[in-house]
Amino acid sequence: MSHSKQKSGSSPDPVQSVGSGVSSRIPGFYKLSVQDRVSMLSVRSGLPSAELALLGEGCLTVEQANHMVENVVGTYSLPLGLGLNFQINGRDYLVPMCVEEPSVIAAASNAARMVREGGGFVAEADPPLMIAQVQLYDVPDTERATQAILADKEALIVACNDAQPNLLRRGGGTRDIEVRTLERETEARPGMLVVHLIVDCCDAMGANLVNTVAEAVAPRLAELAGGCFGLRILSNLADRRCVRVRCRVPLDVLRSERFDGVAVRDGIVLASRFAELDPYRAATHNKGIMNGIDPVVLATGNDWRGVEAGAHAFAARSGVYRPLAIWRAGSDGLLHGQIELPMAIGTVGGTLRVHPGARLGLQILGVSSAQELGMVMASVGLASNLAALRALAAEGIQQGHMSLHARSVAVAAGASGELVDQVAAELSKLGDVRKERAEQILAQLRGSPTV
Ligand code: MEV
Repeated sequence: MSHSKQKSGSSPDPVQSVGSGVSSRIPGFYKLSVQDRVSMLSVRSGLPSAELALLGEGCLTVEQANHMVENVVGTYSLPLGLGLNFQINGRDYLVPMCVEEPSVIAAASNAARMVREGGGFVAEADPPLMIAQVQLYDVPDTERATQAILADKEALIVACNDAQPNLLRRGGGTRDIEVRTLERETEARPGMLVVHLIVDCCDAMGANLVNTVAEAVAPRLAELAGGCFGLRILSNLADRRCVRVRCRVPLDVLRSERFDGVAVRDGIVLASRFAELDPYRAATHNKGIMNGIDPVVLATGNDWRGVEAGAHAFAARSGVYRPLAIWRAGSDGLLHGQIELPMAIGTVGGTLRVHPGARLGLQILGVSSAQELGMVMASVGLASNLAALRALAAEGIQQGHMSLHARSVAVAAGASGELVDQVAAELSKLGDVRKERAEQILAQLRGSPTV
């Protein structure tokens, strides 16, 4: 079996999830207590409360952490929230997001609601192909070496697959071999080649898989090239494993307090053009996209450094750093957005073997393949970008940011329970979101003298 482009997760869910027809739209979710949200999650996902109890325990014990990395002295927690309203290829998802920045989850959920009104996200994923690189140096004749390697391709692919028999059994394996000349030989010195082994990793991220394959065949490649092998390692520019997502947003949901839908749409299109023309802006635009992607990568136990490296290298693939998502006014008058980026992530192996929180994250999401997970991540990235550009193109980012920031400041000032919202509302009304002000308001609300 070989993996093809995937448009939606069609295989049966290993766990009960919102995929079984339950809506990810939960009006008023943010107003519930944490306990009530978890109960709601249990109902929506079909996951028993006993399993979700892990959420209240930080998802990882020190004992488990000690088996993951070295020199462990403890664990370190981050908030885990749910991205709501996501509908991707006709299916609803509750999206676990692990992030420290206020407003990221609310913004992505709001944008997902707008996209939902336009029919939801439409996503497709390349097959899960990773690239392993074998560097060949001291190559006396790069042309002849390239031909020799390509002529031996079939035998080389067999050797690659012999190194990963389990992967072959799971339907994956090495699909192709490509050779790139990095430096031609001159009279003064020999040349340098790199061989790309293109490996279908199925539902694994695949770093270990492809590194093993590269190490197994490097000596034979060097022999064929008449040179030496150097590095044997995956490429994080996983551009054979891209995900593409598009969406349409109706104008009436784009409208803000002071701007109508057309003005907001045109502002977003202008913001997109800005990012397309200026790498300084493109970096911030893409940061806003990764605001949505990284929290899902983290919540599902994936390698966010790898995803970040792949995203930014892909953004710069033309030689100029460009935005990963762009926005246009469609001929139907609606706002149209699209994103494309590599998604080197997995739903099996790696951290998932040892981190119960990562396993739970995947269960909440209920995806059945790495391709499907990549489509969810890119959709959340596109939603985050939409939310940021809408705010920037209309009232500006600070208004929304500040009201959410006010909640963190209220907590930092010592508020708890209902007082958090009361203090935050007062801070926003005053337009003064400082901790000292929050402490004064808190003292007043509690009826004690001002501190
Ligand atoms: C802040 O975390 C992200 C933004 O700067 C993204 C953007 O400017 O597009 C708001």
